[in-house]
Amino acid sequence: MRPPTVLVTGGQGYLGSVLAPLLAKHGADVTVVDDESITRERQERPGITYITGDIREPRDWASRLTGIDAVVHLAAIVGDPACDLAGDLARDTNYLGTIRLAEASKRAGVGQFVFASTCSTYGAAGDAPVGVDSPVEPRSLYAETKVFAEHYLLSHAGDGPRPSILRFATLHGLSPRMRFDLAVNTMTARAAADGRFMVHGGDQWRPFLHVRAAAEAVRMVLGTTVPSLVYNCGSNAENYRIATLGELIHAEVPDAEVDVVEAARDPRNYRVDFDPIETDLGFAPRLRVLDSIRDIAAAVRSGRYADHASARYNNYLLMVERTARQPVAR
Ligand SMILES: NC(=O)c1ccc[n+]([C@@H]2O[C@H](COP(=O)([O-])OP(=O)(O)OC[C@H]3O[C@@H](n4cnc5c(N)ncnc54)[C@H](O)[C@@H]3O)[C@@H](O)[C@H]2O)c1
Repeated sequence: MRPPTVLVTGGQGYLGSVLAPLLAKHGADVTVVDDESITRERQERPGITYITGDIREPRDWASRLTGIDAVVHLAAIVGDPACDLAGDLARDTNYLGTIRLAEASKRAGVGQFVFASTCSTYGAAGDAPVGVDSPVEPRSLYAETKVFAEHYLLSHAGDGPRPSILRFATLHGLSPRMRFDLAVNTMTARAAADGRFMVHGGDQWRPFLHVRAAAEAVRMVLGTTVPSLVYNCGSNAENYRIATLGELIHAEVPDAEVDVVEAARDPRNYRVDFDPIETDLGFAPRLRVLDSIRDIAAAVRSGRYADHASARYNNYLLMVERTARQPVAR
């Protein structure tokens, strides 16, 4: 039997650079497509085919979709601040780009289309857990583009590749393409490197998921026919109030000072029910927030991320550089 063929868009990114090698290790024939817009140096792993390509222009590399069993679509302008800075690019990439890629996948006869969505689509849902049937209330352009893309994929289900939508919790942990603009990663790096970190607000709920567990969830969903087309991807035990996250970090880095500041600009507050993905897929991640806090604190203390505040690890600062270099709207 031939190995499954998987094309991963955004495979040079934070999640993609963990996922692509994981799939290859499990025997998949993996092709990565990335426009390398946020990559300072291309990272290549043996056994994986890398293509520089823009998902907004799939015609340029559509021949690579022939014979692909599943597309895992991660490429996006990721995060509220980066999307707010380059709104037209965010809409063109996250929404229209997804439509163009889904249509190209359909023409090529791709069987499955795994889409990386986000739990931040629930917006300011409050303290009670929300499930996939709860209303989505995007509070940012980023979340809105993901809701629109989901809607397109679901309304075209049955007329092209089978969609599998994973609404990921906020990711954390070490990755070959590190991000220090994600709550656990940033707060821990600052605590370990600078001896102080900020807690924005405190009462608001947020679910978290280790980046390696997120990659594992994608691997589990590939090639399976699960009852639902949409899953929240995370675990119930990893819903935290931001204040609790601050306490966990402080317990690991006790010398660090904590500055509690108002979260005036970010109204998001959502606590998520992850039972269905555990019941249907057996997804029960062992790696937890505490593992990432320890890993990141150790990596920073070893001197590995002396430049943790650099733009290279921050999607918003990279977008500031990118928009200064070239016009982003087309
Ligand atoms: N990191 C999180 O906490 C999180 C949470 C929920 C959902 N997600 C979703 O998971 C996916 C991956 O997130 P990430 O954290 O790895 O982000 P990332 O920013 O590290 O990676 C995104 C990748 O997409 C590539 N890309 C951007 N525009 C492209 C284009 N037009 N054509 C081709 N490639 C392009 C970038 O070069 C980058 O390598 C995204 O879709 C994101 O919305 C992430």
